[in-house]
Amino acid sequence: MEPVRAVPPPGRPDPPRAECPQAAVELARLLRVAGYESHRIQERLATGDQLLARSPELPSYLRRLGDADELAVLLRLFLLGVPVTHLRLDELLGRQLKVLLAGAGLLIQDAEVVHGTARLVPHDELLIASDHAGAAEAHADHVPGVHRPSVALAHLTVRGEGELALDLCTGNGIQAILLAAHAERVVATDVNERALAYAAFNAALNGADNVEMRLGNFFEPVEDERFDLVVANPPYVVSPESAYLFRDSGMPGDAVSENVVRATPAALAPGGFACLLIAWALDPDDPAERPRSWLEGSGCDAFLLHTSTDDPIETATVWNRDLLDRPQAYAEALDRWLAYYRELGIEQLGYACLVLRKRSDGRDGWLEAQQLPRAALRPAGRHVRKLFETRDRMSEIDSDSVLLDRRLRVVDDAVVTQDTRFEGGRWHVQNLTLRLENGLPFSAEIDPPTARLIRGLDGSRTLHEALAAAVDSDAALETGLALARRMLETGFLELGE
Ligand SMILES: C[S@@+](CC[C@H](N)C(=O)[O-])C[C@H]1O[C@@H](n2cnc3c(N)ncnc32)[C@H](O)[C@@H]1O
Repeated sequence: MEPVRAVPPPGRPDPPRAECPQAAVELARLLRVAGYESHRIQERLATGDQLLARSPELPSYLRRLGDADELAVLLRLFLLGVPVTHLRLDELLGRQLKVLLAGAGLLIQDAEVVHGTARLVPHDELLIASDHAGAAEAHADHVPGVHRPSVALAHLTVRGEGELALDLCTGNGIQAILLAAHAERVVATDVNERALAYAAFNAALNGADNVEMRLGNFFEPVEDERFDLVVANPPYVVSPESAYLFRDSGMPGDAVSENVVRATPAALAPGGFACLLIAWALDPDDPAERPRSWLEGSGCDAFLLHTSTDDPIETATVWNRDLLDRPQAYAEALDRWLAYYRELGIEQLGYACLVLRKRSDGRDGWLEAQQLPRAALRPAGRHVRKLFETRDRMSEIDSDSVLLDRRLRVVDDAVVTQDTRFEGGRWHVQNLTLRLENGLPFSAEIDPPTARLIRGLDGSRTLHEALAAAVDSDAALETGLALARRMLETGFLELGE
């Protein structure tokens, strides 16, 4: 009878290793041939969820999988952390795949069963190994899989071509591997040796041969070096604990975010970008105040892409989910975290991706905050770059009259939708919504004059001409002008020639 529970392997297995780059790439290929790909796994498990680091649906997943084919065996071992009997393994796993898995240290024998030593999760085209989710307890160097913040950072990263890139706090290496596809060379750093071993294995598994791993504290391994692109998903959580390297920096309050933000400009080449996940003690009267103060004298322009504001209970709940199956420990952790926030006077916590661009003129830059809806982010690096470029162009348009004389054009991805309700014998327009179908998930409710204005902005007429056709008072013209500026800044409109 096949086991039906997630059981940790005996002892604590070492991270997997690539015997040679070819063996790792061949292993990934054979896993895909066996069906180890996002869409096929989702289909098999009848889930539309992203295959992130957790599998709370284990019992139902196991029943869907059964145990009668190769993919079922692989998913039990490497996605769900459920061992299989030797008999099943020998019966169902292809010989070459078994040899390569064993060579990578991904199989471990225990009496009658075999365990998968690591979790393997496909992310789009990539395959990422990490520690099994349930294996964290008491191991500060636990290496988690890809979480939602990792995906958000990847979506917001401003990517160029042929750059020298740095992934600070690389963990399982996901960001470094994504950077490797467009950068000439990537340096990935982490203070956790176990994380770097996973990152090295993952780089090999995904054929990324231009990533160099360096062990050390934050920027120390790259002192005096300059990069065209820096990404960082540091342990930014404002936490009273020192339990996990991936979550707890051990620094008080939001000091880890402050330190990373303050140290990044020195690691950037002129014109270079940095995309940093940060958290901070947020003042509702001026939400961006602390990140802005960290950037004084930085020589960088910045967009604060503010993804959420949570209260202490929300934050404590989210970051202690690993304790959910231990109610007493969970309740105690929440109390500890809430007492810590009270002690620091923190009532709200801000979360954002802070995108920096190092100025070439050495002058102090600007910071602009943009609220991003909590709705799932999608790839938006090009849009983020465009926000900076538009800001540059707008700074050259120093008066309303110059802007009014420019031809403006709605971008190709803009969509206007209209809700209408049938009432009293006729149709009434209820809501008009303008949204972008790609890039940052911006949307706005608009009124009928704005809809008319947008229809007129097709690049063939000046803003003044389009406004004159859409509105009928000077006051409305003023409002329309301010609106057009805002739509340019957010990327709904672009400047024509
Ligand atoms: C949230 S994980 C990031 C994982 C990965 N980059 C991602 O985007 O999913 C944070 C990482 O920072 C590392 N870290 C913690 N303290 C550090 C320090 N002082 N210097 C360098 N890395 C550190 C942890 O070991 C962990 O791998």
